[in-house]
Amino acid sequence: MKQSARGWALRGVCTGLVLLGGLCLAPLQAAESLQDSWQWRLPAGFAAPVVPADNPMSQAKVELGHYLFYEKRLSGNGKLMCASCHIQRLAFTDGLPVSRGSTGEYTARSAQALMNVAWNASYTWANPALTSLETQMSVPLFGENPVEMGVNDSNKQRVLQRLQADKRYRRLFRQAFTQDAAPISWRNIIRAIASFERSMVSGNARYDRYLQGRTRLTAAELRGKALFFGEKAECFHCHGGFNFSDQTVSVKTRLEEMLFHNTGLYNLDGKGAFPEGNRGIYELTGLAEDMGKFRATSLRNIAVTAPYMHDGSLKDLPSVLAFYAAGGRKIAQGKYQGDGRQNPYKSELIGNIDLSRREQQDIIAFLGTLTDPQFLHQRALADPFRR
Ligand code: HEC
Ligand code: HEC
Repeated sequence: MKQSARGWALRGVCTGLVLLGGLCLAPLQAAESLQDSWQWRLPAGFAAPVVPADNPMSQAKVELGHYLFYEKRLSGNGKLMCASCHIQRLAFTDGLPVSRGSTGEYTARSAQALMNVAWNASYTWANPALTSLETQMSVPLFGENPVEMGVNDSNKQRVLQRLQADKRYRRLFRQAFTQDAAPISWRNIIRAIASFERSMVSGNARYDRYLQGRTRLTAAELRGKALFFGEKAECFHCHGGFNFSDQTVSVKTRLEEMLFHNTGLYNLDGKGAFPEGNRGIYELTGLAEDMGKFRATSLRNIAVTAPYMHDGSLKDLPSVLAFYAAGGRKIAQGKYQGDGRQNPYKSELIGNIDLSRREQQDIIAFLGTLTDPQFLHQRALADPFRR
């Protein structure tokens, strides 16, 4: 086990070198059996992600995880799969402000896009403690507040028996976990789905092809690009780098600090309060300065993931740009009444944003170039039961 984890780490470092000389490949292939081999086919500009040493990538695990991601029998009552809330053509969001779990309960926040999640420093909208896909998965699988997949002590064994009874899963688990005498376990389910999630790579948008000199952008898209990466719109400070998020880590980077930001969406009491249960990392730290602080998510495929923000409270991209141009959101009436623009914990950058209507439209045109149709339709990520 140690051996193969090390093998992967070396290969991760070599991925970049292969482009230069192809010198690393031969000795590495000898070090690992073919069955276990995994090659990152990474888009230009992507450095290999950091993968936990106890869950190295393998083709067999990715294949098993692919089936499990689309498997309703994995939920307690057999009604929901990961893909119910994470739909491929919507970049694995569900198009709703908030989602409904297997027993009908609503989630507090909006289902997130799953692409390039292998590079995230932390997971979900606001939880610095969830730093791997393996730990994140306890939330949808076993979470009770709210119930999502609804797996608990009373049905945990039953779900495993359902998979055990299926010839396909007996084969897939055996192939993915060759060393295990009893491979069908929750630990291995989680390891396989996490491996599949790491294979969800999006890096073939028009913007990527433009960077490689393979296509051109329109005049409006180019104006939007200049604004996005400039000091008038400030977007790149929080949504920068190859994954358009300031919480991106790879084998080549070390995260200096895990950043979360208050963008001025709410101000219920004039002192900065966000709605109960959705107060960002404040919910975990209890520190005043953490009120309303959320993760700046990736903006890849953003044109297909409406509605926006942690609670889906902005319905489309024009609303998001108008929100930033105003330096936050004033809610005139109702239970969330308050002037978010005056939120004392709002990031200073947000207050600096200054954009005309036309500049907002140009940025929206630029964001459209981040859509990757190949990712949204590729068969390697589609429902395997429909093949
Ligand atoms: C009922 C709908 C629902 C189901 C089912 C569901 N999710 Fe999610 N998912 C969400 C929501 C909502 C969030 C945002 C959670 C938050 O911030 O609290 C999320 C967030 C995530 C994230 C974090 C992404 C990021 O960028 O940080 C991952 C990874 C994820 N889900 C994977 C899964 C997996 C794997 C399954 C199946 C085991 C699954 N989800 C099932 C609704 C769902
Ligand atoms: C100070 C950091 C910061 C700056 C500057 C910033 N953003 Fe954001 N952005 C965030 C955070 C944090 C979120 C999530 C906020 C939430 O859900 O409450 C977000 C959310 C978004 C979303 C919605 C994402 C989703 O998945 O729903 C879009 C679109 C977006 N930003 C675009 C932009 C654009 C365009 C700019 C420049 C005009 C910009 N952002 C500037 C931090 C920032």
